Amino acid sequence: MSHPETFLLAGVMGWPVMHSRSPKLHSYWFERYGLAGAYLPLAIQPDGLERALRALGPLGFAGCNLTIPHKEQALRIVDHADDRARRIGAISCVTVNKDGTLTGTNNDWYGFLENLLEAQPSWRADAGPAVVMGAGGGSRAVVDALIHAGAKEIRLINRTHERAVTLARDLGGPVTCVPWAERHAALDGAALLVNTTSQGMVGNPPLDLTLDALPRSAIVYDIIYIPGQTPLLAAAHARGNATLNGLGMLLHQGRPAWKSWFGLDVEVTRELRALIEATI
Ligand code: ATR
Repeated sequence: MSHPETFLLAGVMGWPVMHSRSPKLHSYWFERYGLAGAYLPLAIQPDGLERALRALGPLGFAGCNLTIPHKEQALRIVDHADDRARRIGAISCVTVNKDGTLTGTNNDWYGFLENLLEAQPSWRADAGPAVVMGAGGGSRAVVDALIHAGAKEIRLINRTHERAVTLARDLGGPVTCVPWAERHAALDGAALLVNTTSQGMVGNPPLDLTLDALPRSAIVYDIIYIPGQTPLLAAAHARGNATLNGLGMLLHQGRPAWKSWFGLDVEVTRELRALIEATI
C-alpha cells in the first residue's frame, strides 16, 4: 500500500446516487488513516451495471458498494457470492479478486446488528418476539440477521402478504407472517419493532401503525435515516420506548467492505457519526 503508484479506489454504484452519504463516510476513513485514495459516487443506469462492474478491475478499483436499484441485479452478475447473500437475494458490496473475478457480499445484515448492539449493548435476539414491518430487500437482510442472531419469534408484516410469505419461505427460521390488518395488535409483547418499509422516509407518509399494544420496554428501530427521526420513532420516543434510526447501519456496513477491499479494520467513531449526521 506504500507503493507510489497505489491509489486506493472504491465507490458506490446507484441510480440515482448523488443523495448517498457513502462518499462522505468513506472519505473520512481515507483521511483518518492517512491513505491516498478516493471513494466515488458512480451514477450507473441499470442497463449498464454489468459493464460497470466488469470495468472495476481494469480501472484499479478494489470494489464498490451498491445501492438502489442495483442490489438484486448485481447478485446475478458477480462470479462468487456467499450463502448469506444468496439467501437474502441481494448484495451491497462487490470486491475485485486478484484474478479479476468479482465477489459479492451482503453487509446490510451486519450493519443492522452492529448498530443495534452499539446502541443497546445488552440486547439479545432471544429476549422476546421481534416484529418486522416490510418484506423488501431491507427486510430480508434484517430478518436474516435476526434469525442468525438467535431470535425465537419473528412476526413479519407486509402490506402485500404474499411477499412476506415468500420471504419467510426463502429464509426459513421462526418467522410467522401476520396479515397487514392485524399489525397493531401484533405488537403485543414484542421486545423489538423494526420498520423496513419506505413509509416515514422523506417525501413519504408515515407508517400507519398504532403503538398502543407495544410494551414500553421494546426497542423501536427504523432503518430509515433521512429524516433522522421518522414519525414512527417520534411516536415511540414520546411514549418512552428506546429508539434508533438507520444511520449506524450505513456506517457499520462500511467496515467489512474496507476489510475486504483494503484489508483494513476501520472504526465507526463519534466524530464520524456527527460528520454524517450534520449532512442530514
Ligand atoms: P427495499 O428493498 O428498500 O426494502 P422495496 O423492495 O421497494 O424496498 O420494499 C419496500 C417495502 O415498503 C415493502 O415492504 C413495501 O410493501 P409492499 O411489498 O406491499 O409493496 C413497503 N411499502 C411501500 N409502500 C407502502 C405503503 N404505502 N404502505 C405500507 N407498506 C409500504
